[in-house]
Amino acid sequence: MSDDPDKTGGPAAGDRKDAHLALAADPLALSGISAGFERVRLEHCALPECSLADVRIETDCLGRQVSAPLFVGSMTGGTAHADAINEALAETAEAAGVALAVGSQRASLESGRSQAGLRKRAPSVPLIGNLGGVQLAMEGGIDLARRAVDDLQAEAIFIHLNPLQEAAQPEGETDWRGVLTAIGTLVGTLPVPVMVKEVGAGIGPDVARRLFDAGVHAVDVAGLGGTNWTRIEVARRSEAALFAPFLDWGLPTVDALRGVRAACPHGRLIASGGIADGLDAAKALWLGAALVSMAGPVLRALTGDGRGTPDPEAAEQVITLWKDQLRLAMFLTGASDLSAFAGKPGHVDALAAR
Ligand SMILES: Cc1cc2nc3c(=O)[nH]c(=O)nc-3n(C[C@H](O)[C@H](O)[C@H](O)COP(=O)(O)O)c2cc1C
Repeated sequence: MSDDPDKTGGPAAGDRKDAHLALAADPLALSGISAGFERVRLEHCALPECSLADVRIETDCLGRQVSAPLFVGSMTGGTAHADAINEALAETAEAAGVALAVGSQRASLESGRSQAGLRKRAPSVPLIGNLGGVQLAMEGGIDLARRAVDDLQAEAIFIHLNPLQEAAQPEGETDWRGVLTAIGTLVGTLPVPVMVKEVGAGIGPDVARRLFDAGVHAVDVAGLGGTNWTRIEVARRSEAALFAPFLDWGLPTVDALRGVRAACPHGRLIASGGIADGLDAAKALWLGAALVSMAGPVLRALTGDGRGTPDPEAAEQVITLWKDQLRLAMFLTGASDLSAFAGKPGHVDALAAR
């Protein structure tokens, strides 16, 4: 994600990546505000007229057939520990038949670590690269993005927008001029789709419209309600009074999705941020997302407290559970495939029904 304190991808960046992994698995990393899925009610259908066993959730993802419209969200890479986590995540994604997005590749590329081995562990599923928007706008940023895609043999790249997280880092980048222009340049340069995401504070309708106008392939709203980077960065600071009122700043995922869907009815949307299970994923799809990703929950399934030995099978089991929950939600609305599910009735409550 946010990159190097020493601006070279050196050891300090690596220490931070390992600290992020441990902190992200800790309850302190969770947002104090819900993503909003408890407000979304899918209408129960007492006469489904389909068989649960026949409910189909396979779909296309970046030109490859995947087992479900779910994927493992961007997390890490670039240190020995982070690379071990990514290798385990690649095994999980391959076994589950879903795409894998990696975390920011800048530190990795600048310190000469290749992540090319991930393709060997996940030969049949889409791999998605990652670079920060503010780093893309710096000198050499477009070339770095090209190298990120080449190193991974990626099907696409995510550019992440994280102004709040960068501001909360003592070493973060707070000059965000020229990022949209750089994204537009990248779209015209790279041979693979460019997708843009936040990291948990959400992308709203106006930003999404500008991104689609710049030609991006998809926008991942990556909203508030799950892993909270302000809380994680503040936990790493000795002095954090400035950020105390901003701990839960951002757009909850459900609000971001609804706003962007209304403003950009034809834009390809991805949902992430606080998606806790397969029913939340179903609700995000029903709200208009084509794909849904989970980051923190996969990390916790893989490593427990973030320090444990990665267990790809445990993470795959959780993804299998989410797929079964998605199928069950579709069955209970009377939908036997994803296109039928999109048109099923439901509603969004104005206030949370906690
Ligand atoms: C350990 C960890 C590291 C992350 N690093 C990155 C990153 O490098 N790039 C990025 O775009 N997002 C990164 N994210 C953000 C996630 O992709 C996602 O947008 C965010 O965590 C919200 O999803 P969640 O609630 O399912 O965790 C990271 C998330 C976690 C948990």
